[in-house]
Amino acid sequence: MKWRAIVLAAGKGTRMKSARPKVLHELCGRPMLWYVLDALRGAGVDDVLMVTNDELDPHAASFGAHSVVQNPQLGTGHAVQIALDDLELREDGHVLVVYGDMPLVGAATFRAVVDAVENDSSVALAMVTAKMPLPSNFGRVIRRDGTVERIVEARDASPEELQLDEMNAGIYAYRELALRDSVRALHNDNAQREYYLTDTIEGLAKGGKRVVPVAARDHRDVLGINDRVELALARKSMNARICLEHMTAGVTIVDPDATYLEPELRIGRDTVIYPNTTIGLLSEIGEGCAIGPNSRLSDVKLGDNVTVRESVVVQTKIGSNVTIGPFAHLRGGAALGDDVRVGNFVEVKNAQMAAGSKASHLSYLGDVSIGEGANIGAGTITCNYDGKKKNRTTIGKNAMIGSNSSLVAPVTIGDGALTGAGSVVTKDVPPGARVAGNPARPLDARPR
Ligand code: UD1
Ligand code: CA
Repeated sequence: MKWRAIVLAAGKGTRMKSARPKVLHELCGRPMLWYVLDALRGAGVDDVLMVTNDELDPHAASFGAHSVVQNPQLGTGHAVQIALDDLELREDGHVLVVYGDMPLVGAATFRAVVDAVENDSSVALAMVTAKMPLPSNFGRVIRRDGTVERIVEARDASPEELQLDEMNAGIYAYRELALRDSVRALHNDNAQREYYLTDTIEGLAKGGKRVVPVAARDHRDVLGINDRVELALARKSMNARICLEHMTAGVTIVDPDATYLEPELRIGRDTVIYPNTTIGLLSEIGEGCAIGPNSRLSDVKLGDNVTVRESVVVQTKIGSNVTIGPFAHLRGGAALGDDVRVGNFVEVKNAQMAAGSKASHLSYLGDVSIGEGANIGAGTITCNYDGKKKNRTTIGKNAMIGSNSSLVAPVTIGDGALTGAGSVVTKDVPPGARVAGNPARPLDARPR
């Protein structure tokens, strides 16, 4: 059976008090909508139609979904009607309807309602319900004989109905014809003058169709995010979940509450992550690494046994047995081979450092290729910018760059060459040559 999904995300999200559409607000480095689409895919549903508003619509394609704009927004039932008008009719079709502001719902929950419909041909709709602490703004589930008779919105509920603690989570698996028929029959005589999707349940039940509840495992997973307080709580849960996954797979996380991870990371076993560390953007980290404390890694690829202490590493590839930091900054397409060392207060940008090369202290290494085994002395600067464009520096194998050298690019230091402390190198240095001074001259050619 092939399922299609409708994701409702046209609401204004006024309680976020934001210029940005609510469902684009991020937790753990991804918009909340990303998680909904990811969980749907995880449940085997990849044909998704999003109901959007004008601000959100241009972003829909980036989530791999089709979209239709709902304007004006006359309620969740109206939103689904607009979506159905856009979907080609399938007599034996099935449609999952979910809200775009529930990033903590996992694939298993979607799968549970889908299965409830697939496994019992008498079921017209399966919906997720959750026991929740009172008071609550969620719609209340009114049951009869193990099926759901109707949902009453909190705003429309009587005091007795408000005492019910079984809530409508907002996840529905419909047989398509049942959905189309019941949505067409909706009206808006309620507190908000809206067309409520939840009224389809009463319509179906009255028409003799079965609506079955499927209990959520944990009510916290189905909380919608309406404001930034709920966003922060959801982020905490999501982060805890991601940390748990990695710990279960063999990564030591010293303090998960102070470790900030994104989805889709790869971290090898026996790697240890120390507190106040953020890792994001599809980063891959090998085995036996030590990351943190106080570090930020984004879009990085690290080999095995790499140490990164108190450092920022962005858009960088690193081999194995490398040590970085404390207080280093690697960025902009840096690429480090095995056994490299980058020490304190060294910035490395768009630079290749071949195996065994070292820059242990106080340097700016930008737009440079550094050969195997070269040693970059403290205070070395690649002067890569001439005021108009960036120029490259090339440093050969086993070269020795003396402390406080300025390498004025474009310039090449040959294999095994040496620059004296304080050199200002403006001309290429041949392999094996020794230069010093400002401007640097060959040492052997100098008058004694
Ligand atoms: C809804 C349910 C409620 C349930 C709760 C769970 C209805 C009428 N009520 O209430 O029973 O307990 O979710 O979180 O469905 N949206 C549109 N177009 C609209 C209105 C809303 O696309 O015209 C979207 C919103 O962007 C949002 C979702 O539908 O993603 C839910 O709307 P919201 O207003 O948050 O519904 P709740 O009042 O939370
Ligand atoms: Ca909501």
